[in-house]
Amino acid sequence: MGLALLVLGLAGFFGAHVFVTLRTARGELIERIGEGPYKGLMALVSLAGLILIGYGFGQYRATGWIDVWSPPPWTYYVTQILMWPASIFVVAAYSRGNIWRALKHPMLIGVKTWAAAHLISNGDFGSIVLFGSFLVWAGYDRMTLKHRSDPGAPAIPVGGHRNDTIALVVGTILYLALGFIFHPLVIGVAVFGSSPMSARDEIKRLTAPDIRARKGGEPIVCLTSYHAHTARLLDRHCDLILVGDSLGMVMHGLETTVPVTLDMMILQGLAVMRGSKRALVVVDMPFGSYEASKEQAFMSAARVMKETGCGAIKVEGGRRMAESIAFMVERGVPVMGHIGLTPQSINTIGSFRAQGRDESDWGPIEEDARAVAQAGAFSVVIEAVAEPLARRITAAVEIPTIGIGGSVACDGQILVLEDMLGLSPRVPKFVKCYAELGPSIEAAVAAYAADVRARAFPATEHVYPLRAKAK
Ligand code: KIV
Repeated sequence: MGLALLVLGLAGFFGAHVFVTLRTARGELIERIGEGPYKGLMALVSLAGLILIGYGFGQYRATGWIDVWSPPPWTYYVTQILMWPASIFVVAAYSRGNIWRALKHPMLIGVKTWAAAHLISNGDFGSIVLFGSFLVWAGYDRMTLKHRSDPGAPAIPVGGHRNDTIALVVGTILYLALGFIFHPLVIGVAVFGSSPMSARDEIKRLTAPDIRARKGGEPIVCLTSYHAHTARLLDRHCDLILVGDSLGMVMHGLETTVPVTLDMMILQGLAVMRGSKRALVVVDMPFGSYEASKEQAFMSAARVMKETGCGAIKVEGGRRMAESIAFMVERGVPVMGHIGLTPQSINTIGSFRAQGRDESDWGPIEEDARAVAQAGAFSVVIEAVAEPLARRITAAVEIPTIGIGGSVACDGQILVLEDMLGLSPRVPKFVKCYAELGPSIEAAVAAYAADVRARAFPATEHVYPLRAKAK
């Protein structure tokens, strides 16, 4: 989505700028609508393009980052250095003196230097598209300038050393302002005084308020993970990673989630935090660690947050948990609710079956959702409920609903990772398998076993020969 907006913005911005270079078409349009409206139209399209570029790039960086290559750390300093002359060149286009005379088109050279400087140190797809387009456009504009009889720019008087001094001083101030103010505040990446990191490394982790703000917006992508390595794989694609207590069944082969302990959740929560950088990590509170009282809930949640560094916790239960949710939220614990089918209650509900399939059962489930939202939860998981009810709850509550066996209308979706990868022996109806990793893993293990038995593994390339003796 962010990338699409960025491309749309670039198309608008460069569309307007390229149109200016097509002198016949431009002349015809001015004749048809007049000079003033023409200028207004171009300014409007360029401004809309710029806004889309800024917004789209921000969204892309926050939710859709795509790595292409990793620039070495020294490129960061090259960018810093190149941005100084780039800023001076841009100012020299307006304060015309000897710099202007020598460069002929300092504005275009400034844009090219700026774009090349950023291309050197940013190896992600969005940056390559953004800075690459500016570089290509500046090259195109320079080429067409040579063939334009009417270059279109108003004549600005050309001076001497005084104007060069102004370009140097104002360009340097611009350079410092970009580095010290604009970059850290608007782009969110420090330039001076920070270590040579790519912008990717400085990406901030999403927070519970970020997820809360996504109500009714772009769908929130969530999956479970219990390990550092799967968390690393999920992190680029998911907004939220849940360290679910389903780990008891998935990792430990338990029949239910009831035996899962706080220590188990903390150990896996830590692993997921180590493996991820961007997604909000939510850790499930296991059965028995929070239901007794609001104080017990807070103490357990505080321990989870302190020992894992996660950004939020999740508790099962609607109205019965509202007081504890409010207590925790008031004391700084972001809480995700969980209503509908609540697996920790298996021993009282009797089976893992879908809820609210008769309209007469909707009332209490909807009240649960409202209670959780009113108590201050930042989002609520709706598990295994009739589709129209999940849709209705989503429209009724002010916080994002995250469906698992809910509805496509929910504000986000979650699945257990192993279920959607085809690693679980049995999956509920609401799971879509996006891969069949079980058979692939088994085939790999069978091939390994055959190699070992046939003494075909390890081969020469897998063993360490003696070091060659020095002659
Ligand atoms: O424990 C878990 O994995 C969960 C999800 C099913 C939402 O609670």
